[in-house]
Amino acid sequence: MHKDCERILLSEEQIKARVIEVADEVNAAFAGKEPLVVGILKGSIIFYGDFIRCLNFPIMLDFMVVSSYGSGTVSSNNLKIKKDVENDVAGKDVIIVEDIIDSGFTLANLKQLFIERGAKSVTIVTLLDKFERRTVDVKSDYNCFKIEDEFVIGYGLDYNERYRMLPYIGILKRSLYE
Ligand code: IMP
Ligand code: MG
Repeated sequence: MHKDCERILLSEEQIKARVIEVADEVNAAFAGKEPLVVGILKGSIIFYGDFIRCLNFPIMLDFMVVSSYGSGTVSSNNLKIKKDVENDVAGKDVIIVEDIIDSGFTLANLKQLFIERGAKSVTIVTLLDKFERRTVDVKSDYNCFKIEDEFVIGYGLDYNERYRMLPYIGILKRSLYE
C-alpha cells in the first residue's frame, strides 16, 4: 500500500468484479443502441477503460475535461469546460462516465448541458457515490460503490494530480490535507 494511504477502501479485485456487474446491467439496458460514451477526464480514465471493455453493444467514444476544483479537497461551484466533446450530441443517447459523484454539481451541470444540446437520453454511470455530500439533486443511474465521506485516491482519482495510477482505491491520510 502507498505510504500516503490511511487504508485500502476497495481492492483491485473488488473493483474488477463490481465493474463487470454494473456493465452487465448497462448491457441489458442498451442492447440495440449505439450511444456516445463520454468519459470525464482525467478522473474517469481507468474506470472508463475497464468499463467499456465489458460492454457488448457498439459505442462511440468521446471525452470532456471539466473542473470544479481548485487544488484542494472541496468542490467549488464553478464548472469550467476545459475540453469539450468532439461529437454533435443532438439525437444521440449519451452515457456519461464519471469517477465520483460528490456534491452532484459536476454531473447535474453536464446532464443539463447534454439535454440542452438535444441528446435523446442522458445516462450517468459512476464508479463512486459519496451520497452523504450531495447538495445538488442529481442521481447516478448506475453506480459501482457507495462510499462514506472520506477523501479517496487511486484508480484514476487524484489529490493535487497525484496517485491516479494506484490500482486500488485508498483513503488519503488526513494529515496530508488538513
Ligand atoms: P462534485 O461536482 O462535487 O460532484 O465533484 C465531482 C468531482 O470531484 C469528481 O469528478 C472528482 O474529480 C472530485 N472528487 C470528489 N471527491 C473526491 C475524492 O474523494 N477524491 C478525488 N476526487 C474527488
Ligand atoms: Mg475530477
